[in-house]
Amino acid sequence: MAEKITVSHIKADVGGYVGHSSMHPRLILKAEELLKSAKDTLLEDFHVSKCGDDLQLIMTHRKGVENEEIHKLAWDTFVECTEVAKSLKLYGAGQDLLVDTFSGNVKGMGPGVAEMEFEERPSEPLLFFMADKTSPGAWNMPLYKIFADPFNTIGLVIDEKIHGGFRFEVHDVKESKKILINCPEEVYDLLILIGSVDRFVIKAIYRKSDGEIASVSSTQKLALIAGKYVGKDDPVMISRSQSGFPAVGEVMEPFSFPHIVPGWMRGSHNGPLMPVSIKEANPTRFDGPPRVVCLGFQLNNGKLVGPRDMFDDPSFDNARKMANDIADILRRHGPFEPHRLPLGEMEYTTLPAVMKKLEDRFENI
Ligand code: F6R
Ligand code: MG
Ligand code: MG
Repeated sequence: MAEKITVSHIKADVGGYVGHSSMHPRLILKAEELLKSAKDTLLEDFHVSKCGDDLQLIMTHRKGVENEEIHKLAWDTFVECTEVAKSLKLYGAGQDLLVDTFSGNVKGMGPGVAEMEFEERPSEPLLFFMADKTSPGAWNMPLYKIFADPFNTIGLVIDEKIHGGFRFEVHDVKESKKILINCPEEVYDLLILIGSVDRFVIKAIYRKSDGEIASVSSTQKLALIAGKYVGKDDPVMISRSQSGFPAVGEVMEPFSFPHIVPGWMRGSHNGPLMPVSIKEANPTRFDGPPRVVCLGFQLNNGKLVGPRDMFDDPSFDNARKMANDIADILRRHGPFEPHRLPLGEMEYTTLPAVMKKLEDRFENI
């Protein structure tokens, strides 16, 4: 059997330029230099990118998922890039590195991770999605559409290879529990859970016929790790496609609707998820609206052929226009819900202080 390949996508915000809007080019250069020095020893290949203020490391290797050497390489890269960010006094330098020293695995230490290991097919198109100014539940609706909704993915209806459906691994991020749910049989059970994006997050998706991995997402919630607001989770998601998986166009299609996600301004507002090219992923209006980018590659014996900037396509112009219209409507709500998040979900709040101050003035009714 051929040696398996592992794809690791690890990301962190280690400093913004200007404010939280984008990334200084020197951080990308530094990350490229460090990953280059690990190529051929540890890595098969890599690509460094950005989405807003998040530094994105896409790596291929033969070490399997949750490998200590790979995670240490990513961690050390973020630490060195933090030094560059500090030297330029960039905004929030090192913001997502929640601990001082690396211990075995970046999980729970701040950076977001999505990894999958599989046997490379004769042709292996891979799609890497990255979002800024939102949280991991942002993938729930698009993943449901890609892997369970025949109105999005006609392959579920007319392609023998995926007609059997997919199995969803859903994480309850508040209770630290996970469950496998089979689709299409259990779609209603799936939806009662994943419609609640703050608590239930799709971690991985497997093809039911043979258990083959199809998609994986990052699910870390920085606020749950640190116990307080420390920045946005800004999740990533990888999807395989074609020949027994949804087609590239079926994976892209859900993003033609800019669904409303939490995470805009101070992690405390809902906003539309706008699909854009990498060069347009610099959210500056009210620190948003939230963005999603996608890089596509063909895998070639572990090497990454690409990338193609997948939302650099006029067929997403309407989604961008719709997102701007939704943004206008939501912004006019100012500090009111449903633009502002419910009290318990805001990442900034003055509620305890205000309640304390007004304590004596509250009367029974
Ligand atoms: C950061 C974000 C921003 C910040 C806001 C306030 O990812 O979404 O909206 O929350 O700019 O940032 P501070 O508190 O650092 O001034
Ligand atoms: Mg930031
Ligand atoms: Mg960010």
